[in-house]
Amino acid sequence: MTAESTALSELPADLNPDRLPQHIAVIMDGNGRWAKHRGLPRIMGHRRGVDTLKEMLRCCKDWGVKALTAYAFSTENWGRPLEEVEFLMNLFERVLRRELREMLQEDVQIHFVGNLGALPQSLQEEIQRSMEETKNNQAIQFTVATNYGGRQEIVQACRAIATQVQAGTLNPDEIDETVFEKHLYTVKTGNPDLLIRTSGEMRLSNFLLWQMAYTEIYVTDTLWPDFDRAELHRALCAYQARDRRFGCV
Ligand code: IPE
Ligand code: IPE
Ligand code: MG
Repeated sequence: MTAESTALSELPADLNPDRLPQHIAVIMDGNGRWAKHRGLPRIMGHRRGVDTLKEMLRCCKDWGVKALTAYAFSTENWGRPLEEVEFLMNLFERVLRRELREMLQEDVQIHFVGNLGALPQSLQEEIQRSMEETKNNQAIQFTVATNYGGRQEIVQACRAIATQVQAGTLNPDEIDETVFEKHLYTVKTGNPDLLIRTSGEMRLSNFLLWQMAYTEIYVTDTLWPDFDRAELHRALCAYQARDRRFGCV
């Protein structure tokens, strides 16, 4: 390992290790625009976006962030041209197959959230395999939101709770935030401390609606394929300068 790569893996000196976000969520946006600016088809942006995500995961792990949740495909993204949707589904499957060994070596625990049952069968199988094989890994919890929608997640939680009430195993008076959260996809990861959205868009686009009630939001104009360690460093500096009040004074 070179001196330079050693230095890169260390937390930058101006960041306080005790005040890092435990859990970062990221809306990886701007792949299409990145490609368009270069006169390339949109899919080339998605392909480059995978490299960015890999680098971000490695960086989070190196710097001591314990959980990263990335928005890969929303319930609304089915509305895109069929060839783009098909490309993305194939890309997810190829990348998972290709990267599983390295995730095992790097002690990454991968997890998928969303309405996974509606994904292509072969992708579902790769997803199950990767979750099963990495389930005991410890270094970082890496969650990929695929066919994920915040509203869909809340509706499915309501349905599960209603079913319990109907069966007589749950009393409506017992339903509180803690009970409700047990039915969300994020039961293991919890709420993000920091949301990063690339490409300048100031919206949540149906991502983790319940979980982000008190998440700090950071938006950068940088397009996702151009997001790098220096950008993550900037986002973390901005986060550490925030005063998280949670409604108190
Ligand atoms: C984000 O990039 C990736 C996915 C939604 C899958 P976009 O594809 O939304 O890129 P823009 O926003 O069109 O530039
Ligand atoms: C959000 O990006 C979804 C993902 C990054 C997977 P979109 O590009 O779909 O969001 P909108 O359409 O700009 O709100
Ligand atoms: Mg977009």
